[in-house]
Amino acid sequence: MHAWWKESIFYQIYPRSFYDSNNDGIGDLEGIIQKLDHLKSLGIDCIWLSPIFPSPHHDFGYDIAEYCAVDPIFGSLDIMDNLIEQASIRNIKIILDGVFNHTSIEHPWFLDSCRNGEKKDWYIWNEKANNWTSVFGGSAWTWHPIRKAHYLHSFAKEQPDINWSHPEVQKEILKIMEFWYKRGISGFRLDVFNCYAKDTQHTDNPKRKDILGLIGGFAYSFINQHHVYDRDRPELFPILRDMRKLADQYNAVLIGETLDENLRYNRASEYVGPELLHLTFHFQLLHTKWNPKKIKDSCMQLQKDFQSQCPTIVTSNHDFPRQSKRWGADERKRRIMALLTLTLRGVPFIYYGEEIGLPHISIPRASIQDPVGKKFWPFFSGRDGSRTPMQWSNDKFCGFSKTKPWLPTESKNLCTVHVQEEDPSSILHLYRALITLRKSHPVLHKGALKWLSSSKESLCYERYLEQERIVICINLSSRTITTPVQSGTIIFRIGSADLQTLQPYTAILIS
Ligand code: GLC
Ligand code: CA
Repeated sequence: MHAWWKESIFYQIYPRSFYDSNNDGIGDLEGIIQKLDHLKSLGIDCIWLSPIFPSPHHDFGYDIAEYCAVDPIFGSLDIMDNLIEQASIRNIKIILDGVFNHTSIEHPWFLDSCRNGEKKDWYIWNEKANNWTSVFGGSAWTWHPIRKAHYLHSFAKEQPDINWSHPEVQKEILKIMEFWYKRGISGFRLDVFNCYAKDTQHTDNPKRKDILGLIGGFAYSFINQHHVYDRDRPELFPILRDMRKLADQYNAVLIGETLDENLRYNRASEYVGPELLHLTFHFQLLHTKWNPKKIKDSCMQLQKDFQSQCPTIVTSNHDFPRQSKRWGADERKRRIMALLTLTLRGVPFIYYGEEIGLPHISIPRASIQDPVGKKFWPFFSGRDGSRTPMQWSNDKFCGFSKTKPWLPTESKNLCTVHVQEEDPSSILHLYRALITLRKSHPVLHKGALKWLSSSKESLCYERYLEQERIVICINLSSRTITTPVQSGTIIFRIGSADLQTLQPYTAILIS
């Protein structure tokens, strides 16, 4: 079977914010169809769509009320079929967001379960709540007056956790996946898959005694315990094996999002294998602020953790502030990180808008949409800032919609696809050039990686495959440094860099 996913470049679309075709202020599937040529010209291979299913949108689609349908705000199954077809004409595959740890409180399964119906055991109920805490704060249990018991929700109370220990549930989820494979979907990104299995005895999690535990004691209770009984359970493995068997029948890819409790705890690589998931996310680089040494350490750690597997390279997504916020406004940093994303060993994930360096937009309190932002403001204002509309043109609302969008666009219309198309030195042109480069050199998408020695401000690595070798030198710092490798032919360059010196935030590729 062709491991197409290993050589692909993925592009994440947050459908509410890509392009609004019917001017109701919310992006939709027809809008994605209309913008496919942008993606084609960028050169990506596979789109990951954040949830498009019917939902009351308590967590913007990550609370699904029906798995085999499309939310009318996004379109319909017919439009979805058309999107799959139009994408495939352009050689672009589509994967969906499989949110299978929980459903919406409005899902018919949950409504039935609450009434003690046929599906009474499809969710996790307990008369007495234990100490498990929710990622979105507070207890993970909520009392249900009709069922007269507590139900478990690892996230918001509108997102009840499915009972994966029930064989019928497992079968049903596989059926849902097959429904989409048959429609031409090429796989799933599995939302917080390492939470599926829980200890069926509901044993209390042990309390954390370190500094994070103390902070969690009063600020954010999720981190006040070690999540040993509600995450990463051994019962998870047979579930993943069944999913993989089915995926293999359709040559589909499974990409797992591991919920990680803290930075030093990352088990993402344990779930990758020929009978397990194809890929998992490792969020080390998302957690890393701009600090050359830390970025360097994160890249090395990532390669080490996935020594015998294929890593993913994720530098942005819908849950984290955009690069411009995490790493600062200086565009040179984003340019060298684009090069890093597309030349490290691993499967790159580009989050919509990063190809034009979309700014992170601060949302005033009254306009916050994200439930997490509403709950934790002013300590945390939520994830809206990285979910703002894609900026296409100089028209009002940056050409995203003719109506005021659900989240604001940048007021000055400076950062748009249109402006950057006209400017050969723009970051959009850089992304295209890097993608073309990666595709034209098998060593960049297939080769192994060896670290070469370099100062603490810089990264230097060699990609090699049979006879082909490419060396990458990146200066991550604001100082001019000596180029770590000084011989060969420069085949690509960002900024003022040569075989003697690398100016601040520059890079070269040498063959
Ligand atoms: C994942 C998603 C996030 C969502 C949560 C609950 O972490 O990426 O956006 O809120 O799961 O489904
Ligand atoms: Ca719309």
